[in-house]
Amino acid sequence: MTSRIKFTNKFGFIAAAAGSAVGLGNVWKFPFEVGKGGGSAFLIMYILFCFVLCFPIMVTEIAIGRRAQKSAAMAFTPLGHRGWSWVGALGVFCGILILSFYNVVAGWVLGYFVEMLLGNFDIGQHFTEYVSDIATVSGYTIAFLITTSFIVLQGVTKGIEKANKIMMPGLLAIMLFLVAYALTLDDAMKGIAFYLVPDFSEININVIYRALGQSFFSLSLGLGAMMTYGSYLSRNEDIIFASALTTLTDTMVAFLAGLMIFPFVFSQGIPPEGGPGLVFMTMPGIFKSMGPTLGIMIGSLFFLLLSFAALTSTISLMELPTAFMVDKYNIKRKNAVIYSTILIFIVGIPSMLSNGYSGFFTRFITYIGADTPVSFMDFVTDIASNTLLPFGGLMVCIFSIYVWKRRKLFRELTHGNENFTKTFIARYISFTLQYIAPPVLGAIFIITVLEIFFGVNIF
Ligand code: TRP
Repeated sequence: MTSRIKFTNKFGFIAAAAGSAVGLGNVWKFPFEVGKGGGSAFLIMYILFCFVLCFPIMVTEIAIGRRAQKSAAMAFTPLGHRGWSWVGALGVFCGILILSFYNVVAGWVLGYFVEMLLGNFDIGQHFTEYVSDIATVSGYTIAFLITTSFIVLQGVTKGIEKANKIMMPGLLAIMLFLVAYALTLDDAMKGIAFYLVPDFSEININVIYRALGQSFFSLSLGLGAMMTYGSYLSRNEDIIFASALTTLTDTMVAFLAGLMIFPFVFSQGIPPEGGPGLVFMTMPGIFKSMGPTLGIMIGSLFFLLLSFAALTSTISLMELPTAFMVDKYNIKRKNAVIYSTILIFIVGIPSMLSNGYSGFFTRFITYIGADTPVSFMDFVTDIASNTLLPFGGLMVCIFSIYVWKRRKLFRELTHGNENFTKTFIARYISFTLQYIAPPVLGAIFIITVLEIFFGVNIF
């Protein structure tokens, strides 16, 4: 077997993993989910899920990938048996679904970058018209998709490492600046209170379900993205350290995004439960309030850095179908990228149309009991990220404990961390994988499938 291309060092891997994790999930999706989920109630559940459940699953995914030396869809067979390969295939399918709508939102971000450069700060009030303009949206979406394909073509271990070292700290810096600015605005404290003052009464099954989905989505877990990256990681590196740093960075960026957005939302009197448009409706007005010069500078820089964060995420998603085709059918990487791109574009068309352009896709479905119709894009988000990702995580736990076996998982984790088995973290990971994750993920999966998709009222 030829040995796989590897990341050149520890930070190359961490940059790629953190780059995959930090993206629109943190700055676009997280705030509107918090807004819909009643603020602090959602935040509490989200943080709990990230550290208690997701961190051990991330460690396990990376370990499986590194041990198998195969991308996600092919990793289960060598470590277990062929009966598990459907889990990998489901991951590839789910990755294509996620990418299909992710690209569209990334297209909006790219478009907003241009609008900010032009000083068009009133775009926030015209968000609905903007996203229903199919010519503009499809142009940016295609531009973004092609950029992703181009980088995936070079291979994930090259290229992005260097750029990431500048862009990621850049995004953090600009967000810190915006948080400081946010705190000086009128009504900022209302936003902070909504976000941070604990209100346990708001926690219900829907909040739990969405917070769980969000934690998987934000940490890029549940479909094998981290597994695929793990297959490019050398055995001298410490998986625990890399996972911990990735989890911490990602959670911190999401937390900062909330700290920035909610004062902005409340100071402009925008309803926090506004859904996927929240960030796009909120930010331009804030840049406007900075005056034209500073507004254009900060505004365009913000959307540029966010586009880049989105790019390092789409790369990890596109790597899934690409690596799958290369590993399974032995075709050239270039052809695999071309097929993936075409497929993702086609699957993404309904999402592109579902924000006002086509009435059918905009009001695609009315969930039983929901009073507002759900767009195709929101529907796919629900299926793919809130339901299938935690389900994939459940399968990873069961696989690692009952099929691959904990002993072998732990042996893999000691490569790069010799004393691992003696640490507290080892006990904690073992406990979570066996006793916490399976019942929690299993119960939430069953309850939500029954409640949301079949309209059964359990609570
Ligand atoms: N985590 C990314 C974000 O927050 C999105 C993402 C990239 C993702 N790769 C993934 C989500 C794999 C689930 C699985 O923007």
